[in-house]
Amino acid sequence: MNIEIIHIVYLIASVTFILGLKMLSNPKTARRGNLIAAGGMIAAIVGTILLREEPVSPIIYSLIFGAIILGTIIGWLTAKKVQMTKMPELVSLFNGMGGACAALIGLIEFPNIAAHFPGKLGVVLAGMLIGSVSFSGSMIAWAKLNGTLKNAIRLPKYNILNTVILVGLVGYAVYIVFAQDYSLTHLYLLFTLSLVYGVLFVLPIGGADMPVVISLLNSFTGLAAAFGGFLYDNQVMLTGGILVGSAGTLLTLVMCKAMNRPLYSVVFGAFGEAASSSTSNGPQGNVTEISASDLAVQMNYSSKVLIVPGYGLAVAQAQHVVKELETLLEERGVEVAYAIHPVAGRMPGHMNVLLAESNVDYDKLKEMEDVNPEFAQTDVVLVVGANDVVNPAAKTDPNSPIFGMPILEVENAKSIVVNKRSMNAGYAGIQNELFFKDKTNMLFGDAKKVLSELVNELKNLD
Ligand code: TAP
Repeated sequence: MNIEIIHIVYLIASVTFILGLKMLSNPKTARRGNLIAAGGMIAAIVGTILLREEPVSPIIYSLIFGAIILGTIIGWLTAKKVQMTKMPELVSLFNGMGGACAALIGLIEFPNIAAHFPGKLGVVLAGMLIGSVSFSGSMIAWAKLNGTLKNAIRLPKYNILNTVILVGLVGYAVYIVFAQDYSLTHLYLLFTLSLVYGVLFVLPIGGADMPVVISLLNSFTGLAAAFGGFLYDNQVMLTGGILVGSAGTLLTLVMCKAMNRPLYSVVFGAFGEAASSSTSNGPQGNVTEISASDLAVQMNYSSKVLIVPGYGLAVAQAQHVVKELETLLEERGVEVAYAIHPVAGRMPGHMNVLLAESNVDYDKLKEMEDVNPEFAQTDVVLVVGANDVVNPAAKTDPNSPIFGMPILEVENAKSIVVNKRSMNAGYAGIQNELFFKDKTNMLFGDAKKVLSELVNELKNLD
């Protein structure tokens, strides 16, 4: 009887995962979608533990629930405390833990499966191998994002070395299965080599490319979990693993497409590293500055203002003052909206989440394709801490590293104001010709500071 109930619970949980994932695609429903999927996960975990046919000793129960309570407390507190700009770090840490779980399943189940179900040995080894790579790779990504590992470390001929190790790893796993050589030495050696490969895979990749890498590692963890589902004949683990694996793969590809960079260039390239703070790379010339008080007057007499948020807005934590600016302008009859580039910031949906934090209306967040035709009718575009996503070189300069990347066409607006702290380059390490255009004015300074000044100036106009 229990087994039938478990299958129903698993079916319901799988449906909640799919529904939750679907709802995550819209900021309005994302929170609810997350809760629904989490509810499904709780049902699947509780069902698996309590509806078992075989008896479980009280000690095992207390160990399981003890670990769940401890994990829940740590996870809850960390997620509550984390700042938005530190989110990719947290995701890589959590993803690493998922990979570690899949690796541990492989390590623990290997002797049992070898003795009783040798036909499933390939599945155990695949899950362990992928989980280990995901674990050690995610730990390196985490260390890069929190600044512990500052530079990309590239061994000589690292691409060839990594490919040889990968082929060797797969060959070794195939050997263990087909030679029916089930010694634990092989298992531990394969495990260690997989960890080493994960480290070597992520070490050479530039820190700024980590969000894409994390998403890729996320898909590895999903795949490893799906192998766990195969192993235990557990449908919900299989569905969950496949969903994470495919969502991670799709997200990786979407990010690469939005940056107009093939995946191999992220994994093997050194994009933006050398010149990340350079000002000499690209167009040069004189720029025109504007003061907060002049901008306040200009905005006050505008009919339509578009705000383009970028990475600098997140760094400065200027989302609340941007919202204040929006409210003040609207009170003066100015139409205000936000133009959102899909890879503005450093993680998918970065700007949407940031602006949602300050209660900006979702309907005011306009996606790139929808907003681009609107720039020509816009009086003032205020670019806050964005750079690459508004760089016209992406359309005009075939030699630019961002050539082909779709951009927000702010240069079509009647007047452009760019806020940043200096003339330093953005993520791609290149200068931006937009800053030198006649109708562009630079508003230098930290976004939170200068926007607060702008807000005060607007209030003084009353
Ligand atoms: P960036 O091109 O990185 O430009 C951000 C600008 O913000 C910098 O030029 C910087 O100039 C300025 N800034 C930094 N701190 C500031 C502060 N406190 N106040 C004001 N300005 C500040 O950012 P973007 O336009 O948002 O483009 C995102 C880039 O990241 C793209 O190249 C994209 O491909 C890449 N990327 C995105 C993702 C995702 S999924 N979003 C993932 C990987 C890579 P100053 O130093 O002069 O202030």
